[in-house]
Amino acid sequence: MRVQALMDFIDHSPSPYHAVAQAAKLLKEAGFHPLEEHEKWELTAGQGYYVTRNQSSLIAFRLPRHKPERWLLTAAHSDSPTFAVKNDLAEGDKHYLRLAVEGYGGMNSASWQDRPLTVAGRVLVATQTGAESRLVYLDRDLLTIPSLAIHMQRDINKGHEYNPQKDMQPLYGLVGSKSLTDLLAEELGVDKQALLAWDLVLVPRQKPVLLGAEGELFQAPRIDDLGCAWAGLEGLLAAKGQEKAGQLCCIFDNEEVGSGTRQGALGTFLPDVLERIACCLDMDGQERRMALAGSMLLSADNGHAVHPNFGEKSDPANRVYPNGGVVVKYSANQKYTTNALTAGVFQAICQKAGVPVQTFANRADEPGGSTLGNLLGQQVSIPMVDIGMAQLAMHAAVETAGSRDPDYLAQACTAFYESQLTREGDGRYAF
Ligand code: CO
Repeated sequence: MRVQALMDFIDHSPSPYHAVAQAAKLLKEAGFHPLEEHEKWELTAGQGYYVTRNQSSLIAFRLPRHKPERWLLTAAHSDSPTFAVKNDLAEGDKHYLRLAVEGYGGMNSASWQDRPLTVAGRVLVATQTGAESRLVYLDRDLLTIPSLAIHMQRDINKGHEYNPQKDMQPLYGLVGSKSLTDLLAEELGVDKQALLAWDLVLVPRQKPVLLGAEGELFQAPRIDDLGCAWAGLEGLLAAKGQEKAGQLCCIFDNEEVGSGTRQGALGTFLPDVLERIACCLDMDGQERRMALAGSMLLSADNGHAVHPNFGEKSDPANRVYPNGGVVVKYSANQKYTTNALTAGVFQAICQKAGVPVQTFANRADEPGGSTLGNLLGQQVSIPMVDIGMAQLAMHAAVETAGSRDPDYLAQACTAFYESQLTREGDGRYAF
């Protein structure tokens, strides 16, 4: 089953840095060429390339055999709500060692308690000539955030306000043990003094698993949004190249904190890459704008499946379920970029490919979330549609989704990348 490939991808991607490294590995194996942003690019028609920014965002693209007349793009995010490790200076108690953490994104705090956790991310290590960032994952059960016993808070089942500074600091061990810095130095095989700085996050230790009477569901950390990041990538890798359409797969960091970073969807990563491709392929100013106007982008991030115990939380008429197919997300206030034109085109492409589609909209009295498409649209003016997989327990430490949906989403992305989508006028497409 194709869900197994996604579960492996998630398991090997404990941090955004690891997710991007995994994506780069798959791309390299498929013959895509790595590029560096600080070097001059020489691009060849028909070839595939990828480039990373901050090691946590990635854009992969396959050039058409002729001068590009349009771009077909997907975008998803590499980050998930977690806790960032400030340092390992234990404070306070004489008996316990704790790590100091702060929240990253909007997580369900309770779901992070009483489970084995560890750390992953990158460490800047001093070298002979300077410094180098190295990925690190302490692949062991290392930490926990113990809840307070019910005897000491009798009303816990009536609700609790979680204070990240009070409730969510992880227990690392007992006084006298090695420090986190010691463990990291050991793992990296370097001297403790060589560790200059780090970007580390907490990681739930649960392995992705199939659930349900026939394995029809799966549960894993970070399904939002590694499910879509993987599907976009798989879609690109499986797609045949085009004559006149460039195919791009974007994975951005920092969606969970508003995307407003150099490597986020609000940064210049995508416009910079498009500009450089256009330069290499001798596209003039007119041709660049013509290509943008004729393009389309799938903004892929998961949507809320109807909850089995809280059916009333979903709109009565726009209900999505696990294994119901690709979710097309609407929002009148334009938190999602979907409109009749882009949704209609995308759904027609899915129908042709035999991929089921379901429609999501929030209840009229629920504001709902937002995602990266509408922010990306402020940087590159391309028609977009917001899509994703239906999932439960979004932003909990582990999430649940349908095990057939990753395949549906990857198939939809491939069909989109292979489509002969051509703009014939404002409001008219051939495909
Ligand atoms: Co998301």
